[in-house]
Amino acid sequence: MMKVCLLGASGSIGGQTIDVMLKNKEDFDLVGFSVGLRTAFVSKILKKYPNVKHICVKNKEDMDSLEEKYPEVNFYYGDSGLISLIENCNADMVVNALVGFVGLAPTIKVLEMNKICCLANKESLVVGGEIINNLLKQGKGTLYPIDSEHVALAKCLAVDNKKVDKIIITASGGAFRNLTRRQLTHVTPEDALKHPTWNMGKKITIDSASMVNKTFEVIEAHYLFGYSFKNIGIMLNYNSYVHSLVLYRNGEYRLDCGKPDMRVPIKYALYQGLTPYKTVVTKDLSSIKGTEFGVFDIKRYPAVKFARTVIKNKGTYGAVLNAANEVAVNAFLDHKIRFTMIEKIISLMMKMHQSISHPTYEDIVKVDRQTRETVNYLIKEGGIK
Ligand SMILES: NC(=O)c1ccc[n+]([C@@H]2O[C@H](COP(=O)([O-])OP(=O)(O)OC[C@H]3O[C@@H](n4cnc5c(N)ncnc54)[C@H](OP(=O)(O)O)[C@@H]3O)[C@@H](O)[C@H]2O)c1
Repeated sequence: MMKVCLLGASGSIGGQTIDVMLKNKEDFDLVGFSVGLRTAFVSKILKKYPNVKHICVKNKEDMDSLEEKYPEVNFYYGDSGLISLIENCNADMVVNALVGFVGLAPTIKVLEMNKICCLANKESLVVGGEIINNLLKQGKGTLYPIDSEHVALAKCLAVDNKKVDKIIITASGGAFRNLTRRQLTHVTPEDALKHPTWNMGKKITIDSASMVNKTFEVIEAHYLFGYSFKNIGIMLNYNSYVHSLVLYRNGEYRLDCGKPDMRVPIKYALYQGLTPYKTVVTKDLSSIKGTEFGVFDIKRYPAVKFARTVIKNKGTYGAVLNAANEVAVNAFLDHKIRFTMIEKIISLMMKMHQSISHPTYEDIVKVDRQTRETVNYLIKEGGIK
C-alpha cells in the first residue's frame, strides 16, 4: 500500500488523481493533502478519506475555522505549510498538482526527503530543472512526470531509446489554432478558456492558447530525457489522440495513442511506470487512423523560441520566463492586458535579464520576485505596448 500526499487536491489534476486512487484503493491510501482557496474540497475529500490527519490550506483564517471543525486533524497553511505537510504526513509518494512557482519548493523537499515525486507541476522543472536533476543525480528521490506528452515519451523511450533522432511533442494548437496572429489581438479570456480537446485549470488553458504550455513542455522534456533543443520537435495533432512520438534514425516513428484523458498518465505515474501499455510503430504517420497531423510553424507560435533560450543558457532564464508568464496570464484573465501582450512581456523580460549560472533555490526566488515586481510595474504604468 502506497501512502500518498496530494498537493493541489482541489484542482483539475488533483481531482483526477483522487479518481484514480479511489479506483485502486487496494494500492493507494491518502495520508495528507493540500487545497488553496477552495476549502470546500476539504470536507468532500475527508468524506472519501476520513483517516487523513494532515491538511494544508492557503490562508490562516481558513486553517483556523477548519481546526475548529476537525480538531483531530493537523492543519498547516501557506507556502511553509506545504513543506510542513510533506515533512509530517509520512507519505511514500507526493503528487505535486499545484499550479505555478509555488510548486518548486515542495518538489525539492520531496526529493531531498528521498521520496517519490509524481510531478504535474511542470513549472518546477521550468524554473528549477538544474536543481531537480542534481538532486536526482545524487540519488535523492525519484521523479515521474504527470503530463500526457512526457508520459507518452517515457513509454516510447522505455521500449526503445536507441538511435533516436528526435523526440516529438504533439500540440493541439490551443483555443486559437484557427486564427491568424493578427486576429489574436482582440481575443478575450473567455475565448482563451475554451480548449478544443482538454478540460484543465485556467492557467494551463491560457498557456495552451499562447503556446507557452508547449514552450514549458519542451523545457520539461529536456530536463526529463536529456535531449537538446534541436532534438526536441513539435508536431500538431488536432484531436490530441497521439500524445507524443519518437522518431528513430531509420525513419521509424513510435507513438503513444489514446483518447485524451489525464487519468491515464496519472495512473502511469502513480504506478511508477509499471502499468501495461502498447506503443505503435510506423514509417507513415498518415496510416494512423482517426487522427491528423500538421506542421508546427514557429512563426505562428514564436513563444516556443523561449524554450531555446532557457535550454541553451539555463541559469535563471526559466525563472524569468515563468514569473513573467504567471503575472501576464493573471493580468490577461483580469482584462488588464491584451492576449498578445503575454508573449511581448515575456520577450522583454528575457531580453533584459542578466542570468545567474547554476542558481541556488534562493537565487531563483530572488529572480522570480524581481521579475514579478517589474512586470506588475510595467502593466500598472502601461509601459508595454
Ligand atoms: N489540468 C491538466 O489537464 C494538466 C495536464 C498536464 C499538466 N498539468 C499541470 O498540472 C499543474 C496543475 O494544473 P491544474 O490544471 O490541475 O490546475 P488547477 O485546476 O488550477 O489546480 C491547481 C491547484 O493548485 C492549488 N494552488 C494554486 N495556487 C496555490 C497556492 N499559492 N498555494 C497553495 N495551493 C495553490 C489550487 O488550489 P485552489 O484552487 O483551492 O485555490 C489547486 O488545488 C499545472 O502545473 C499544470 O501545468 C495540468
